[in-house]
Amino acid sequence: MTALQWGGRFSAAADSALLAFGSSLEEDLVLAPFDVACSLAHVEALEGGAIVSPSQAESLRATLRAIEAEIAGGTFAVYARGLGVEDIHGAIDARVRELAGSAGEWLHAGRSRNDQVATTLLLYVRDRAHRAAALTRAIARVLVACAGHELDAQTVVAACTHRQPAQPVLLAFIFAAWSEPFVTAARRLAAIADDAARACPLGSAALAGSGLPLDRERATRALGFAAPSRNALHAIGNRDAALDLAHACVRAVIDASRVAEELIVWSTPAYGYVRLGDAASTGSSLMPQKRNPDPFELVRAHAAKLVGAYTGALATLCGLAPSYQRDLQITKSQTIAISEDTLAVLAAFGRAWESVHFVRERMEGTALDGYTIATDVADQLVMAGTPPREAHARVGAEVSRAESEGRELDASLDAHSSVAAKQTHGSTAPHDVREQIASLERELATLDPSTEPVPSEVEGLRAARG
Ligand code: ARG
Repeated sequence: MTALQWGGRFSAAADSALLAFGSSLEEDLVLAPFDVACSLAHVEALEGGAIVSPSQAESLRATLRAIEAEIAGGTFAVYARGLGVEDIHGAIDARVRELAGSAGEWLHAGRSRNDQVATTLLLYVRDRAHRAAALTRAIARVLVACAGHELDAQTVVAACTHRQPAQPVLLAFIFAAWSEPFVTAARRLAAIADDAARACPLGSAALAGSGLPLDRERATRALGFAAPSRNALHAIGNRDAALDLAHACVRAVIDASRVAEELIVWSTPAYGYVRLGDAASTGSSLMPQKRNPDPFELVRAHAAKLVGAYTGALATLCGLAPSYQRDLQITKSQTIAISEDTLAVLAAFGRAWESVHFVRERMEGTALDGYTIATDVADQLVMAGTPPREAHARVGAEVSRAESEGRELDASLDAHSSVAAKQTHGSTAPHDVREQIASLERELATLDPSTEPVPSEVEGLRAARG
């Protein structure tokens, strides 16, 4: 049936091996509902331009809704795989012609697959950006809730730079710090979803606009875009939204990987700051004592993998002439792979977080190890009038003596008074952390319109600890 897809111009069937080589159907399957939406909107454009009659339009709409049900029921994928078509657009079109009879022949009037690819991908980007935003928001919300909980407990822990103990901070302060990039990610992803809804490419008609009087405004409204795209040639070759989504996804997973790395190190016996529950740990088939943090290691590895995938997506666009080129089929697959992987990684990260137990006594017990109080002692000297360099040198010398004598630094300060002594906005002082938490909650509330549907991936996280 695909043999003479291009009408009279070709007289022989495509080589089946090359057809298989050129097919993106498997990766495209997630696009099926969006392609149906796109086709329903094109029916609006056709009817609005009187290219099809109201009854033909109605028949096309009914057919597309039936296909929608087949997609939701899982039967469409089986059907599509049996067709030997190049992509999801061809598969849905074939089914329309099969079900709608003569009206089915009119769906593709004034339309190119280029328009469908561009529009469908934008609808997909909008949806996945919303889902990823909801996941990053949910992770941020859990971390902020944990920060609030820890603020009540006032747990102190030695914070590190260069992996060396630096200064005592509140565990709540660390949780609040960890939440920040996820708030940023949620904001960025929401903006990408908005951006993907600006310009509707449908009606571009391959590259130059259509000779048929398509009602582009009507199609644009049906799909919830702000306006029809301005320039057909640009619209069918533009992949900004897809790359922006890929970028934001990779960034969010990198953020998760950095927290994951901290938890991996904290879970080693040398640290002993966290213990991973059985649900998120794996043992060794040989060493009976092992408890390995595999989910967090995998988050770390996914981040690296996604950086490679994103780099690949960028590279695919290099030097492509600014209209549709078949290379863009690969950009589409790359965008889908990155987005789906990101949703899975973020959901897994949230689940793994649920089984992290923080060993507060261990943190408290080691908060002063490595002379983390030294900066406070120097600050006290400075406040008493000692010039800062001199204070630094005196305390440094005292640390050196204490170290060689194997004793603590003599100080009237402990980890709690160190934390409380911080004076600047954004510090680890309890009142400051309380303010940070309140501000994070306010920002999250603005990012979390209650009217928005909650994607299924987020449901587990809502129940997460904290
Ligand atoms: N299968 C292609 C894709 O998904 C669509 C090709 C459309 N245009 C063309 N002239 N071959 O990107």
